[in-house]
Amino acid sequence: MTNHKIVVAIDGHSSCGKSTIAKAVAARFGYIFIDSGAMYRAVTLFALRKQLISEGLVKVQELIDLLPTIQIDFRYNAEKQKSDTFLNGENVEDEIRQLPVSQNVSPVAAIAEVRAAMVRLQQEMGKDKGIVMDGRDIGTVVFPDAELKLFVTASAEIRAQRRFDELTAKGETVSYEEILQNVQERDHIDSTREASPLRKADDALVLDNSYLTREEQLDWVIEKVKERLGW
Ligand code: DC
Repeated sequence: MTNHKIVVAIDGHSSCGKSTIAKAVAARFGYIFIDSGAMYRAVTLFALRKQLISEGLVKVQELIDLLPTIQIDFRYNAEKQKSDTFLNGENVEDEIRQLPVSQNVSPVAAIAEVRAAMVRLQQEMGKDKGIVMDGRDIGTVVFPDAELKLFVTASAEIRAQRRFDELTAKGETVSYEEILQNVQERDHIDSTREASPLRKADDALVLDNSYLTREEQLDWVIEKVKERLGW
């Protein structure tokens, strides 16, 4: 057994359980876990609050000009045993998961300048390795040299159902159809945008988890990490 650490890059569609896998793998190896989608969500919340988005249209230049005033970090919440996302010092973990942010995040994440700023921050977070990061461009852009790259996917219907269950469990009243539509729209925008579209890195392993339990997925991924570590 050696002590070297690796970078695990996990990409895939929205609501396919990437974060759940990433979090569990990070906990298993004592690695840092970063949910890069939370960073794009925090920028979107900032833009919404500054009224830089109306009817799906983003005031791109104004947002770009304000990028230097946006500070995002993650702080460990011992009670919940997970990290919360902070925007300029405020805990926004719950707010960034709500529908207004979900419905507006894709156009914000498609802005090249926003991506450049987030990628810089993400690379800084991973410079000492020992990190599991999930997102859309982690294996292709953020950490092209990651020792282990995974591309996670599941059908849109199954992902919508999972999101629906998650939100209703939190007591929110949402419609399955609306969520499915949101999932499909985001898939489309994420895969066809000009700046870093979602695509599988050539050297990524595919994990289709439509019909796999959490335990089955985790066991599989843990084996892959161990292989890379030479354990
Ligand atoms: O994973 P998520 O649903 O929380 O991601 C929110 C949005 O951010 C989604 O529209 C895709 C985008 N995103 C991205 O473009 N690049 C990343 N590395 C992570 C997320």
